[in-house]
Amino acid sequence: MKYHSVIVTGRGSPEVFKIVENDLRTPHAGEARIKVLAVPVTLPDVQARYGQSPFKIKLPFTPGYAIIGIVDELGAGVTHVAVGDRVAAFMGYGGYTEYIYWNAAQLIPVPAALDPAEAVTLLLNYIVAYQTLRRSAKVKAGGKVLIIGASGGIGTAFLQLGKLARLKMYGLASPSKHHTLIEYGATPIDYHTQDFVAVIRQAEPNGLDAVFDGMGGHYFARGYSLLKRGGALVGYSNPLSVSRTLKHLSQVVLFNLLPNGRSASYYGTSKSRLNRRPFLEDWATLFQLLAEGKIKPIIAAKFPILEAAQANELLESRRVIGNIVLLAPELL
Ligand SMILES: NC(=O)c1ccc[n+]([C@@H]2O[C@H](COP(=O)([O-])OP(=O)(O)OC[C@H]3O[C@@H](n4cnc5c(N)ncnc54)[C@H](OP(=O)(O)O)[C@@H]3O)[C@@H](O)[C@H]2O)c1
Repeated sequence: MKYHSVIVTGRGSPEVFKIVENDLRTPHAGEARIKVLAVPVTLPDVQARYGQSPFKIKLPFTPGYAIIGIVDELGAGVTHVAVGDRVAAFMGYGGYTEYIYWNAAQLIPVPAALDPAEAVTLLLNYIVAYQTLRRSAKVKAGGKVLIIGASGGIGTAFLQLGKLARLKMYGLASPSKHHTLIEYGATPIDYHTQDFVAVIRQAEPNGLDAVFDGMGGHYFARGYSLLKRGGALVGYSNPLSVSRTLKHLSQVVLFNLLPNGRSASYYGTSKSRLNRRPFLEDWATLFQLLAEGKIKPIIAAKFPILEAAQANELLESRRVIGNIVLLAPELL
């Protein structure tokens, strides 16, 4: 039996995508074979294709940061998951495919009642927002925060989690997307025409409790300047190159040396490779929040898995608010 995957064959626009056919094989010992139900289409997928990353993924490769699927067959020695279980995998890349093989010990349990399209957005976009809010900045109810990049996949996760945590939110976004920020109680700022530092200095003269920076560059230092004593800056943007990574890290060190009571940090999901426990706990919490209807991911568009090129084109067009997902055809 055969299955299909989407591969990236060069650095560039979505024309470099190609669909390939593979043989379905029996899983190796310790592996699970998973029939993929849902995959998020994220900015890191796009950046990886253009080679905008400190560590470039070798061509050809299959993008797709994470998946939700159903265990289809097990290799020898796997006992803690069963055929038919709903699971997730968090891989970094490899998700634009109809079937995937993954170390069974690394699978994440997913409640079967959840909509896979919604649940799959929690694996990357929501975990970034949740962990930077809860574990990095530790913002308390009533806290005043700025979200730099408030209309995208991670930004809209911040809006929902921030509303739930009763935060006072400001967000940077293009004007056509301001209605979504307003819907979640945030004050929108148009980064094209407004100086966000001046706007916030006037609105919050005592400073902010936290700034979440999804852009990097000059936003990092300007965001830091808006913090009150005790406030936290958390950057989570892709630094795009080794030199920008080093610049970010040296800024973090410098800002933390300044005797002004503010802190700066840089968040990355790559930490999950060193310590999975906080990730497993937080994914479980997010699945619970979704099951209880306390969060509701905005799904801007759904595409069949093999139409990943069109989905990437839409993400790159920047016309989208929230998330784009790829789904197994039977779910569309
Ligand atoms: N650290 C991690 O582990 C991790 C994980 C996932 C993603 N990321 C990174 O996080 C960043 C954001 O990802 P995302 O998925 O939220 O992307 P996205 O869905 O494409 O959203 C991008 C956001 O940035 C805003 N934006 C674009 N240009 C801007 C500018 N010049 N000034 C201010 N805002 C601007 C957009 O606003 P408008 O569209 O309204 O103009 C939008 O709100 C990316 O760099 C991604 O690689 C990091």
